[in-house]
Amino acid sequence: KQTDNQLIIDAGQKQFGATTCGSCGMLYSTDSPEDNFQHTQFHQRFLDTIKFVGWKKERVVAEFWDGKIILVLPEDPKYATKKAEDVRRIADSELGFQQITLSSPSSAKTYLFINSDRMVVGCLVAENVRQAFRVLEQKEKPKDMNKEDFMEHHRAWCCSTVPEKAICGVSRIWVFSLMRRKAIATRLLDTARTTFMYGSHLTKEEIAFSDPTPEGKLFATKYCET
Ligand code: ACO
Repeated sequence: KQTDNQLIIDAGQKQFGATTCGSCGMLYSTDSPEDNFQHTQFHQRFLDTIKFVGWKKERVVAEFWDGKIILVLPEDPKYATKKAEDVRRIADSELGFQQITLSSPSSAKTYLFINSDRMVVGCLVAENVRQAFRVLEQKEKPKDMNKEDFMEHHRAWCCSTVPEKAICGVSRIWVFSLMRRKAIATRLLDTARTTFMYGSHLTKEEIAFSDPTPEGKLFATKYCET
């Protein structure tokens, strides 16, 4: 007996629904031509941006079994500052930052985590600051709010009005989505603390995060043990 209904047999011939690209980390729907197009557009550009060919002069400030951290300063050669800026743009677009300029570009230090596959998988931008305002404890999550609403609502943190002394402001911290929870952000921050100010090891209290995202706040809370 024949029916008019066209059934699709999933014989593994194509992927259904949302998928995360194993190379660029983009989440997209393989069923949607628009999504496929967006993915193709993004994929190569992203991989080209995070590709690190190596430089004649690299300021290696930390080395690990799975990678190294290099420091880029504003006065460095163009190839270095351009890479730092390109990676920062990726972080900015993921963070939804509109403003691309830094608050004090001449003091900005960019730390890049390069993994063993020669990819920039983490970036931290640190700038000189004098003071910071502590994010205040949030009240309990109201019962009728789902996680997304709660996160959206709490994007604007309530801050104390009492300034506290700080030296190093972390204006951006970003880790490639497929490389998270491997202590890359922790190692970037540890390295920034020991190298940001010549000859001094900054305490966790001397570091301030600017306008953290919910994920950034979870990380910073854990890192600073606050
Ligand atoms: N949820 C809960 N806890 C977390 C999370 C999270 N998403 N991320 C980190 N932590 C906590 C955990 O306790 C973690 O330890 P564990 O893995 O042993 O449990 C600890 O922080 C250390 O985490 P790392 O592995 O060092 O952090 P990671 O390398 O994954 O990077 C980061 C964290 C930078 C927040 C990353 O998730 C990211 O790039 N997110 C998107 C960009 C972003 O939101 N950046 C922060 C913006 S704020 C700013 O730039 C000032």
